Amino acid sequence: MNHIIFQLVAVATLLACAVPASATAKKVIFDTDPGTDDALALMLALNSPELDVRAITVVPGNVTASQGLENALRMVSLANRCDIPVAAGAQHPLFQKLITAEFWHGKNGLANVELPASKCKVDSHFGPDLIIQMVHAAPHEITLVPVGPLTNIALAVLKDPSIVPLVKEVILMGGSIAGGNVNAAAEANIYNDPEAAQIVFQAGWPLTMVGLDVGDKTLFSRKYLAQLGQTHGPVNDFIYAVGKYLVDLSAQFGSLGSPMYDPLAVGVAVDATLVKAPEMHVDVETRGEFTRGETVANRHGMVERNVLHGNHYVIEALDKVAPNAKVCVDVEADRFLQLFVSRIKGK
Ligand code: BDR
Ligand code: CA
Repeated sequence: MNHIIFQLVAVATLLACAVPASATAKKVIFDTDPGTDDALALMLALNSPELDVRAITVVPGNVTASQGLENALRMVSLANRCDIPVAAGAQHPLFQKLITAEFWHGKNGLANVELPASKCKVDSHFGPDLIIQMVHAAPHEITLVPVGPLTNIALAVLKDPSIVPLVKEVILMGGSIAGGNVNAAAEANIYNDPEAAQIVFQAGWPLTMVGLDVGDKTLFSRKYLAQLGQTHGPVNDFIYAVGKYLVDLSAQFGSLGSPMYDPLAVGVAVDATLVKAPEMHVDVETRGEFTRGETVANRHGMVERNVLHGNHYVIEALDKVAPNAKVCVDVEADRFLQLFVSRIKGK
């Protein structure tokens, strides 16, 4: 009897190992404005067996659309992943002029690291169309991971709202429930296209917001940089150079490390237990004089109902507000940073 059980266990183990990683991995479309922390996030995604990156779509944000496309192509080439389609997307936000951030990300958006010219070619699809096509080809299987302004994702929803119930989930880097980095209120990805962000938040799909305030808890410091410096490989060395640029930059502002905003969104796709993410209703402010681009989160799920009585309103009841997002409020930072380093080391 023991012998039979042993054989069954051995066969089951063999079968489990025989399943290629991509068959069980989460199918991901990575939408990005590369970008230093976008680069870290992309390499984490490409080196995580839990994820199967099916496409990369490029959005303008940290850099222009054309520079972002060039950066994405060079990075997939460095990672030897020309099999992944890289598509150009929107050229500008829906209703406003683009604001680029070479100030933070370096002249080329990649910490001024000059990667070799890409062996990979751009995909011929328009990014939002590629998203639409891939979601229909794999209904309920695609996770969208946008880590830039939400222009491409909004365009996909506007063009084909039928994708919404077919997307497995959206895990985005953007927003904040504790003030902004652009100004007092707004985080950069949302500020760069607030109307697009509001479309994405209200679409009605399962959505996780990995915001600025939780990203600020994940500081990539010299300790983690040193760990990456012990090993080598094309991706390892590239990420080390970008990481060093970011750590040095953060030191100029008195910080011990650089927040891993975009990589954390990928981290949540890899392992949702890294974060605490209660449900809330989130709206994006599109009109406020001081608050355009702010993610306004209702933490108690209620609004007061005000009823006009004569010349003034009276609160008569509390109305429930349905949540539309899981909002990350805490993270096991060291576990995440160790995961990041372990996935990049020697690659
Ligand atoms: C976000 O803005 C960009 O500068 C980063 O890449 C990140 O996606 C942080 O506010
Ligand atoms: Ca980004």
